[in-house]
Amino acid sequence: MKKTVSVAPMMDCTDKHEIYFLSLISKNIHLYSEMIVANAIIRGDRDKLLSFKKISNPVTLQVGGSNPDELAEACKISEDYGYKEINLNLGCPSKKVQKNKFGACLIKEPDLVAECINSMVNACKIPVTAKTRIGFDDTEEFDYLNNFIHKMRDAGSKTFILHARKAILTGLSPKQNLNIPKLNYKMVYDVKKENPNLEIIINGGITKVEEINNHLNFCDGVMIGRSIYQNPYSLIEIEKEIFKTKNSPTSEQVVEKLLEYADREVKLGTKINHIMRHTVGLYHGQVGSKEWKRYLSDNMMARDSDFQKAKHIMTIVQNNEKAIQANS
Ligand SMILES: Cc1cc2nc3c(=O)[nH]c(=O)nc-3n(C[C@H](O)[C@H](O)[C@H](O)COP(=O)(O)O)c2cc1C
Repeated sequence: MKKTVSVAPMMDCTDKHEIYFLSLISKNIHLYSEMIVANAIIRGDRDKLLSFKKISNPVTLQVGGSNPDELAEACKISEDYGYKEINLNLGCPSKKVQKNKFGACLIKEPDLVAECINSMVNACKIPVTAKTRIGFDDTEEFDYLNNFIHKMRDAGSKTFILHARKAILTGLSPKQNLNIPKLNYKMVYDVKKENPNLEIIINGGITKVEEINNHLNFCDGVMIGRSIYQNPYSLIEIEKEIFKTKNSPTSEQVVEKLLEYADREVKLGTKINHIMRHTVGLYHGQVGSKEWKRYLSDNMMARDSDFQKAKHIMTIVQNNEKAIQANS
């Protein structure tokens, strides 16, 4: 499976509504769910947690956990929901996640991680991948990372997403952990050089098409998180420049389709603000951005917003579209 560019898993951001919204803008981008804890998949409302509207983009489910049996069970349950692969989270440094012994603290336990991956691989037919940091606390060494990857490879995984900064497991908040440890892209390139047969995806601080193109000279793919969440329409440029797509949808076409989806979802009990909140950045950096945000906050973002309030939305979008055309 060729990934090239993917949108990172982000808790409270990349839910099924965001996945559908992004698929309307880009047909080729690889999408990831937010992390779902293995135990929740086993004991929770599976359909609510795992189902998503079928789209042509590849979608990966990200799971969190460190119990090999639970992870295996979660993989067995999830594989029939239409995901192309299952990814194990080994990169989240939050205290809550560490307390439950999953996420970035597992970088310290390569043998346990290998056992988890082995059980996952044996439990399902779709590929199992891992997303990790390049180190932790005082450890940022090529040999440590390379050995960790070899253990996971021997356990049955061939694809690794490397967030190119180490995790500081004590003393930094998750937000600080996304900015303070220095990015070290070279370490990721070196992993690819040393392991040409593994698929290595680079992540962390990437925002521009030129940067994507440069990383693709050294790695198999690029994963982008915050900048796409904040500016989802930037996917249009990625479609054009990286995937060489000629016809891109206008924001009017995107919103029109999203409203059809929202209409169906609201009838099934979804709150309209759970869908529309993901569109706040639709006009990021363009004319009409302020009006759009104000419109959403006045009409769609309150807990009790109802779909009726969406009736003027196409007028706003059409006006924005005209203003953007006139400005370009
Ligand atoms: C709000 C938020 C939530 C995140 N949740 C997850 C998650 O569930 N699983 C995960 O592996 N990483 C998570 N991350 C990390 C991102 O996947 C990504 O590695 C990180 O943001 C660096 O990429 P970027 O610089 O392109 O944003 C999260 C990041 C943010 C900002």
